[in-house]
Amino acid sequence: MRLRLTLATALFLGMVVLTGSPRGGAGAAPFQSASPASTAETLTSPPVLRNTSEKPGVVELDLTAAPSRLELMPGKPTTAWAYNGSVPGPTIELREGDTVTIHFHNKLAQTTTVHWHGLHIPASADGSPLNPVKPGASADYVFKVPLGTAGTYWYHPHPDMTTTEQVSRGLFGAMIVRPAVDPLAGVRDRLLVLSDNRFLPDGSVDLPDHMSQAGHDDAENGREGNMLFVNGQVMPTLSIRPGELQRWRIINSAAARIYKLAIPGRKLLHVGSDGGLFATPREVDDLMIANSERVEILVRGGEPGSRTVLQTLPYDRYDPHTRPADWNKTLDLLELRTTTDAAVPAMTVPTMLRDVQAIDTKRVAARREIIFSQGMINGKTMDMRRVDVSGRIGTTEIWQVENVVAMDHPFHLHGFRFQVIDRDGVPEPYLSWKDSVNVPKHARVRIAVRFEDFAGKWMFHCHILDHEDMGMMGILLLR
Ligand code: C2O
Ligand code: CU
Ligand code: CU
Repeated sequence: MRLRLTLATALFLGMVVLTGSPRGGAGAAPFQSASPASTAETLTSPPVLRNTSEKPGVVELDLTAAPSRLELMPGKPTTAWAYNGSVPGPTIELREGDTVTIHFHNKLAQTTTVHWHGLHIPASADGSPLNPVKPGASADYVFKVPLGTAGTYWYHPHPDMTTTEQVSRGLFGAMIVRPAVDPLAGVRDRLLVLSDNRFLPDGSVDLPDHMSQAGHDDAENGREGNMLFVNGQVMPTLSIRPGELQRWRIINSAAARIYKLAIPGRKLLHVGSDGGLFATPREVDDLMIANSERVEILVRGGEPGSRTVLQTLPYDRYDPHTRPADWNKTLDLLELRTTTDAAVPAMTVPTMLRDVQAIDTKRVAARREIIFSQGMINGKTMDMRRVDVSGRIGTTEIWQVENVVAMDHPFHLHGFRFQVIDRDGVPEPYLSWKDSVNVPKHARVRIAVRFEDFAGKWMFHCHILDHEDMGMMGILLLR
């Protein structure tokens, strides 16, 4: 039997929880880097995963996780772990109402799963640690995409205790669900998958031994990398025509980094979050995106030939004792270049995007308190055989997630979208569908969730992957 290591045991007893990493070898993979003199777009998008079904409304996909020679670190080929040989993995394009079968093949030497983060689908298809896929084995994930859930989602491994390693080696990809009628039809859609990573000089992924200081810091803070990627590229250039409006779907697939996005001197037009568009756009100076969250923003082209950057501003999510020295630096993510083409006729942003109904909380079946301490939920670490919370299908619940320690922990619930009621008692100023929400140090967030259907066991956890691996996760049983 394997013992689950808590943060406390890993930190104070200095136990080893990660295995050695495959290294070395030759080979190359395409990588595009932005040359400063270049004016053309260098940003690439992950390939779209091919639908092998020809029937309308039916999607059949093949996805394989396997070691692959890639340049995760520009110029340094290494053995990455990739979905269909690409990092990020291929983008899964779905439509509301689609019937989906994903044939998954595990060609890794480790047990894995694929979790479809944010999708409201049966527990049997959720890819939680309760349904492991052994090395060499295959699994079919079968589900229907519910109506009204158009939005930006993502997929990643969710094995018990080894998610950080698998994601760090390259296993993550985007999913986009489109509605029959898109209120932003005609606006160019751009996908930006944010990630970070850290490498050894030979280009292999730096996953330190937990006995080391770096290992302790990763366990405490969550593993952060010094290299910042957009769609697997460092500082790519994205181009836009003068006056053009683009819709950016941004996914934070980093293990622990929280981004605070900004474009200097500009406002951002925030139009959506985890579960898709808001009712109306909101203008903001910057935008926080915690681990596993998604945001949608509308960006307009600037003066012809002008250049600016998408940045992440300093944000102190850390415990003062393990805060990295460079936490207060502003970092650049991508260059935004406005072309010298003729201006595009200015497209107006619709003031109404879609209907977002508030969850009715007049009748609530349960009010729960979820306490986040360092590495634990309600004083416990994850036990796959334990049920932490029991609820009923057809009911609405209010959960208060309280963080009692001095660092942020983003909360995620599987299978069900929720709405934030308030943060530290301050009512959420707008309605949005969420599946992850950051709970800052010593803060409290209340959410409302409706358990309409899908009985079974559902995970809820901190989405800092190291914390999740160490057991900062619980199980909700719905009957
Ligand atoms: Cu994105 Cu339980 O995960
Ligand atoms: Cu999830
Ligand atoms: Cu955490």
